Amino acid sequence: MRTTELTKGIYWVGAIDWDIRDFHGYSTDRGTTYNAYLVIDEKITLFDTVKHSHLDELLRRIRAIIDPEKIDYLVVNHVEMDHSGSLPAMMEIIKPEKLICSPAGHKAIVDHFHREDWPFTIVKSGDQLSLGRRTIQFLETKMLHWPDSMFSYLKEDGILISSDAFGEHYASSERFDDEAPLGDVMNEAAKYYANILYLYSPLVGKLLKTVSDMNLDIRMIAPDHGVIWRSHIDTILKAYDRWSRHQADSKALVIYDTMWHSTEKMAEAVALGLEEAGVEYAMINLKHHHRSDVMTQILGARAVILGSSTMNNGLLPRMAGFLSYMRGLKPTGKFGAAFGSFGWSGEAVNLLTTALTEMKIDVIEEGLRLKYVPTAAQLEKCREMGKRIGLAVVKGAAGEDR
Ligand code: FEO
Repeated sequence: MRTTELTKGIYWVGAIDWDIRDFHGYSTDRGTTYNAYLVIDEKITLFDTVKHSHLDELLRRIRAIIDPEKIDYLVVNHVEMDHSGSLPAMMEIIKPEKLICSPAGHKAIVDHFHREDWPFTIVKSGDQLSLGRRTIQFLETKMLHWPDSMFSYLKEDGILISSDAFGEHYASSERFDDEAPLGDVMNEAAKYYANILYLYSPLVGKLLKTVSDMNLDIRMIAPDHGVIWRSHIDTILKAYDRWSRHQADSKALVIYDTMWHSTEKMAEAVALGLEEAGVEYAMINLKHHHRSDVMTQILGARAVILGSSTMNNGLLPRMAGFLSYMRGLKPTGKFGAAFGSFGWSGEAVNLLTTALTEMKIDVIEEGLRLKYVPTAAQLEKCREMGKRIGLAVVKGAAGEDR
């Protein structure tokens, strides 16, 4: 079985999940990998395990290098089941001298597997552990994205094992960033950020500063999903900096759902106005786009314009579901407006406006509601609204240029 050596004595021994298409509500169109790393030193050390379904693959890759029973230390950087699902089986096989985790990791492992008898060694930020020729330095990364999350830095080799951070759901036979198409990898990294880390952006900003202040010599970033960064470290660090500061492109999104095409006609008229303003925009009919792809677009957008028909005194269900998802991810630093068609009660536009306000997205236009089917004059108002929002996007971008 193929193994990949990151540098002498340090191996990728993870698993490739080619088939997964849904990761608790996030569409993983390119599958994913569960990365685990094996260090051959005086104390042989395994960093993380894999999802339980891929235990055999992990074992086959380890066995291509050593007998798993020879592993001395097992480090758990993150307890979510895609990385710890194989932990009970691996503990039985390895019987390690030490099971190393953060304080919150200890609690989470006990709460998941109910084994207080495992040989826990609890480490905190700044703690170091010698493996013989190498030293691990630990850095707790609480809430990025679980309380237990932790980085392990291999000092002598300059390898930062970064748990979920800097990862992507990207299954491929290539292991390194310079072997896979960078554009595809960065798109998946953006999608990962938008759907997993977006709400923790303030903590990401602090973490980037902490890592920068530590003056680590980072020669590789080895996340728990996707490619290992060795040639484009600066690219992914800069992208995280930009995303964590909610820095948006000069782009507008028209996100809508429609019952009998009236709200769709309004959306098209709004888009016409955006086009006239000369701004980049995208039309997103929620019937055809997965919520996690929409969030990826929101990550880079300055204006978010929402449209829904009214149904049963509320929003169309796809829009209601999408807003529930979007609210949880807390995108900020944007502005927007709402529109929609209705028959008799017409609550949707108010509900959309309230949702935008609650998400701290500045509502810069009064919502546009119209009855049943739009007239030419009403569509003209939609076009004008789109143009005003488009010009605001252009003006905002120009302001940033100064
Ligand atoms: Fe990849 Fe939070 O687990």
